[in-house]
Amino acid sequence: MHPMVNTAVNAARQAGRLILRAYDDKNRLNIDAKGLNDYVTQVDKAAEFTIIKILSEAYPDHSILAEESGAIHRKNSNYQWIIDPLDGTLNFINNFGHFCISIALKVNNTIEHGVIYDPIRNEMFTATRGSGANVDSKRMRVNKKTELTGSFLATGFPVRESDLLDNYLPTFNHILKQASDIRIAGSAALNLAYVAAGRLDGYFEPNLHSWDIAAGSLMVLEAGGYVGDYNGSEDYLNSGNVIAGNMKIYKSLLQELKATKAKSSE
Ligand code: 2AM
Ligand code: CA
Repeated sequence: MHPMVNTAVNAARQAGRLILRAYDDKNRLNIDAKGLNDYVTQVDKAAEFTIIKILSEAYPDHSILAEESGAIHRKNSNYQWIIDPLDGTLNFINNFGHFCISIALKVNNTIEHGVIYDPIRNEMFTATRGSGANVDSKRMRVNKKTELTGSFLATGFPVRESDLLDNYLPTFNHILKQASDIRIAGSAALNLAYVAAGRLDGYFEPNLHSWDIAAGSLMVLEAGGYVGDYNGSEDYLNSGNVIAGNMKIYKSLLQELKATKAKSSE
């Protein structure tokens, strides 16, 4: 394992322990309803603090982009850690055990390493550009399914943007009619890790942040899949609109998303 991945794995495990302690404690803390949102914010922030501390001690010159802290620029650094300390926050709040920690390392403009840790299942997903992707010690490969008919997909609703949601629902409807089913489990990073692991045939979701998708997108690529955005480019880290799967599933989803978009704007 690359030493930088090793450091990120260690940071993700420590953040995972902290998140699980808070998760187990939630019945007691839930009684204090006043603090619920603060409490979650506290957990997000504490997990992020732990991750940043570990990464910064190991690599004091590297820059950081993290969901809660924003960007921390360190002079002349070509290295940037992209951190989502708790992806699937709404699941966490509701004791729905499906969330993760996502850490990626971008060097210049390329994601070189990715780590996603699911503390509930104790699963560690890792990827290094050019060296493949693993779940724990097992190599990941994307599925070979060639068409949307009967495919097993995941997505996420853009629930925070009602305009986008109106546009999105016809697309969802159209794709659902072809798929065997679509899961909406609430963690973008885990959806990408699951595509890489061959647990899902494909995944699409609009309007995400780079920290949701930086690590997971590298995993899909290193597992032999493809990741692109809704206009067929590879600008998904900036646009936040992501489609992932093997190349055939990617192309089919892209076509559907384009076709439905054109239809709904007629
Ligand atoms: P979060 O849990 O860290 O907020 C849910 O569909 C997935 O999308 C989660 O990974 C969630 O991350 C992410 N997400 C990011 N931006 C979002 C937005 N504007 N609306 C809904 N989900 C968003
Ligand atoms: Ca997130």
